[in-house]
Amino acid sequence: MSKANLLIVEDNVDLCETLADVFRKVDYNVQTAFSAREAEKVLRRDLIDLVLLDLKLPDASGLEVLTKIKEIDPDILVIMITAITNAQPAVEAMKMGAYDYLMKPFELDEVKLVVNKALETQTLKREVSRYRRMQKGSYPDNEMYGESPAMQEVKKLIKIVAETPRTPVLIEGESGTGKELVANAIHNWSARADKPLIKINCAAIPENLLESELFGHEKGAFTDAKHLKKGMFEMANLGSIFLDEISSMRLSLQPKLLRILETQTFRRIGGTSDIQIDVRVIAASNQNLEELVKAGEFREDLLYRLKVMVIKLPPLRERKEDIIPLAHIFLERNNREFNKNIQGISDSAKELLLKYQWPGNVRELKNVMERAAILCQDTLLRPEHLPGELRAHESAVVTVSVPEEVPAGNGAPISLAEMEKRHIQATLKRCGGNKSRTARELGISRSTLREKMKLYKIPG
Ligand SMILES: Nc1ncnc2c1ncn2[C@@H]1O[C@H](COP(=O)(O)OP(=O)(O)OP(=O)(O)O)[C@@H](O)[C@H]1O
Ligand SMILES: [Mg+2]
Repeated sequence: MSKANLLIVEDNVDLCETLADVFRKVDYNVQTAFSAREAEKVLRRDLIDLVLLDLKLPDASGLEVLTKIKEIDPDILVIMITAITNAQPAVEAMKMGAYDYLMKPFELDEVKLVVNKALETQTLKREVSRYRRMQKGSYPDNEMYGESPAMQEVKKLIKIVAETPRTPVLIEGESGTGKELVANAIHNWSARADKPLIKINCAAIPENLLESELFGHEKGAFTDAKHLKKGMFEMANLGSIFLDEISSMRLSLQPKLLRILETQTFRRIGGTSDIQIDVRVIAASNQNLEELVKAGEFREDLLYRLKVMVIKLPPLRERKEDIIPLAHIFLERNNREFNKNIQGISDSAKELLLKYQWPGNVRELKNVMERAAILCQDTLLRPEHLPGELRAHESAVVTVSVPEEVPAGNGAPISLAEMEKRHIQATLKRCGGNKSRTARELGISRSTLREKMKLYKIPG
């Protein structure tokens, strides 16, 4: 924490200097003022955290100064100093927003104590309000933008689904298209909004633990089951559960989910009686479940249950009209976050943003804009602030950075999948095999990277 800034306003010069000395020794920045006028000058010029304010000043009453202070910045802490044993004006000051008061004569230790406590309380208050702001909606980060017809359609669907209390929803879309945002919106716009939304990423939890995470277990159900444990479904009761990457749920577990969807009942592992719950299931997948059904990796009956209501998020490259408006929204946010003043995006940079294929979709765009904002020292965002992948398109037609292992110059057309594979390999190599960094650079999640590596049989 930085040093606190104190202002001591006291017309008794000796007392004022003594107090100043005490607090300088404690390592605060201290300023002094012997009159209301001087005090006001300092307050308007500097960012003061706390004022020790004498109630009786030569040119104004302390209460008047207090009013001024609260006008200038209501967050400034004010501790009144009063020589009068009559507590009335001090009480008045407290009503007007002073934090505390001290009666002269006082012990210096007492003053120190009061000041420290006030500053501590303020730090705590700031922490709490920052935390509240973050909680409040992780907003504006939580909002879904997009004016394209496709996104308008998505928003309409979300509203319709939100109105139905129990219908399961399946959200499909490539990585980074906003599936989790949609899940949040469905829950928040539904009548269940004040109940929990429990999220679980089926790919992130080891297969053998997923069942007990979801459904819980009875005491003694297996060797490690020392206590009864409630699962996510129970915790989500009356609310919603978001099953992310549902395609990773192993086949043997799928009937249990199907049963919940059909009867709203389940049993804990080791349990002998059914538990009734009321939960909306929102599932998401960035893989085509129909294909997984064909491959025998996903149950058809479960897919049909989930498919009652499907929300498909189109990849960003199929709704190009959203790219520039989204870029501007992210730019605005970054300006605020990084204290920048980037006014716009140059035409040539816009062109690059529009030409790029965005395999990592909105998440990738968000990352690219964040990096650009950090790099840009200017008021206009230009091509040089954009990463190489985007600028690869600058010169000619399609010249994606193809890794060395590609046999050059045979002229054969490359499939998009092959291109993706090579791009992943190249990025992996550039990041020295570090998967977190690779995923970040590619603008996809680690689990998506893992899936794609599996799909393309990339070792690692
Ligand atoms: N329409 C949108 N408007 C604003 N931000 C968006 C939009 N779509 C996605 N984002 C942002 O992009 C990022 C990725 O979104 P989200 O996590 O919802 O994607 P996802 O489809 O769940 O991806 P994954 O499959 O990798 O989990 C988030 O930071 C989200 O806030
Ligand atoms: Mg997600």
